[in-house]
Amino acid sequence: MNQPGNIFKSTLLLTAVLLALSACVSDTTPQKPPDINFPSITNLANGQQIFWAGGCSSCHAAPGSDKTGRMRLGGGLTLKTQFGLFTVPNISPDKATGIGTWDKSDFSNALLNGLAPDGSHYYPSFPYTSYTRMNPKDVSDLWAFLKTLPAVANKPGGHKISGLIKSRKAMGLWNHLYFKRGKVISFNNPSPEVARGQYLVEGPGHCGECHTPRNKVGGFNYKKWLGGGMDENGDKTIPNITPSESGIGGWSTEEIIASLKPATGHAPSATPTTTMAEVRQNLAMLKASDRQAIAAYLKAVPAVENEE
Ligand code: HEC
Ligand code: HEC
Repeated sequence: MNQPGNIFKSTLLLTAVLLALSACVSDTTPQKPPDINFPSITNLANGQQIFWAGGCSSCHAAPGSDKTGRMRLGGGLTLKTQFGLFTVPNISPDKATGIGTWDKSDFSNALLNGLAPDGSHYYPSFPYTSYTRMNPKDVSDLWAFLKTLPAVANKPGGHKISGLIKSRKAMGLWNHLYFKRGKVISFNNPSPEVARGQYLVEGPGHCGECHTPRNKVGGFNYKKWLGGGMDENGDKTIPNITPSESGIGGWSTEEIIASLKPATGHAPSATPTTTMAEVRQNLAMLKASDRQAIAAYLKAVPAVENEE
């Protein structure tokens, strides 16, 4: 039984919690990004590499597009999640329906901070939770590259989500609890290859978005980084890619590298059947040294065993 004192204490505690929550939730004042030193020179070829590493077209282009179609980022794809349906927006340079009126700070604020130009929060169905680890040079080059793509006039519909997260303000609290900037794994003196792989996997490649388990509200379990995840139907079908027995510990570096490209013998135009097939098409566009770096990183991360 609760003593009055305890009730008072718990009321106090509740008030404190509510105050803290509302402080986080109301943290939606328009923010300009912290000063970023973008390099003055842009490298379009690097921008294109980051575009493939980041898999932007997997969500922002029409599904099943050929190579030209994958450069048309008119949006419209529906993403099914446990929180409802998200409709991917148009990020082509179209002024009326895309992001043609944005500047580089708007773009970096979206990718690195998950914030829209009006200061509202994006939902983490847009993987800013990984893109936040991208360096200013890559953000700048990617922005320059996106501006060279065709303007697509298309106005995708809105999201169909319900409950608590209907308000974007709730994402302020979510970010407070789960949005982690900076490296996930701290290596002691990683080789340049492992460091490059770490950057690609934890940053633009956003591999953890699918391969890392999450809690009920979509927060990552960083202790089980890359230890396997759930697909959009809530089935635990996304494999563990850490070097453990239940992961890919038995795979050689060559086998891992081979798994980062579409299997040879398949027609390149074949419609991907798993979400990873789409990722493989993107990774195939990277330099061989980058796929090698990703494999080196996957060999170096802490091993996670599946619990059954
Ligand atoms: C897993 C799917 C997915 C991937 C991959 C993805 N996005 Fe998105 N993106 C989304 C969704 C969903 C939204 C809408 C989020 C919201 O409404 O809160 C979005 C929103 C955006 C926005 C804000 C657009 C606006 O009108 O406010 C930008 C900019 C953006 N993405 C750029 C990118 C870039 C650049 C890449 C590649 C590096 C990328 N996205 C990869 C799903 C994705
Ligand atoms: C959109 C979700 C998604 C993303 C993002 C993703 N994967 Fe996957 N991955 C999967 C699924 C689903 C499978 C299992 C099906 C398959 O292999 O085609 C898989 C399989 C794999 C496998 C084979 C493992 C095995 O046991 O067969 C490797 C290796 C892998 N992914 C590495 C990566 C890397 C590296 C990245 C980031 C560059 C990445 N994945 C990003 C969904 C994803």
